[in-house]
Amino acid sequence: MIYPLKVGLMLAAFLGGSTLAAKGADVYGANCAACHQPTGKGVPGAFPPLAGHFSALLATGTAGRTYVEHVVLYGLAGKIVVGGMTYNGAMPAQKQLSDADLAAVLNYVATSWGNKLPKGQKPVAAAELTKLRAKALTAAAVYKTRPAVK
Ligand code: HEC
Repeated sequence: MIYPLKVGLMLAAFLGGSTLAAKGADVYGANCAACHQPTGKGVPGAFPPLAGHFSALLATGTAGRTYVEHVVLYGLAGKIVVGGMTYNGAMPAQKQLSDADLAAVLNYVATSWGNKLPKGQKPVAAAELTKLRAKALTAAAVYKTRPAVK
């Protein structure tokens, strides 16, 4: 009776994957959408868009990936320009969220509204956040590491 076992395992893997995606959407709705909007488009001049822009940050490689992980863990403070629009606000740290929730929300943003994970990049794992959380950075320090992306 190997066949039913295999189908069962495949189903479990499928459900596991879709539960994770649903979790990321929930975390986004509860913790990011108020500023970055449910559409990911942000509010021009106040909250930068993540739609179409988050992939560009990730596409800069390890620096960009670490940067977005730092932004959710430690917040961000400093002037940035996205899509020709200047943002000079401050994002509060989202460190109240667990490493698993932060990984889920980053993966949700990375694959929503036209964003996709750059070729060769694996989904963000909770263990990456666990490691970076130990650094205890400030929002201003995170700003200094922002990759040059328009
Ligand atoms: C209270 C409003 C607020 C909340 C909540 C918030 N952000 Fe932000 N976010 C901002 C602002 C404002 C900036 C730009 C800060 C600056 O100008 O230095 C920003 C910047 C960012 C950036 C960097 C963009 C870039 O081009 O460098 C990312 C990534 C990001 N936010 C993701 C998230 C995610 C994911 C969440 C939820 C876990 C979230 N934000 C929650 C307001 C918010």
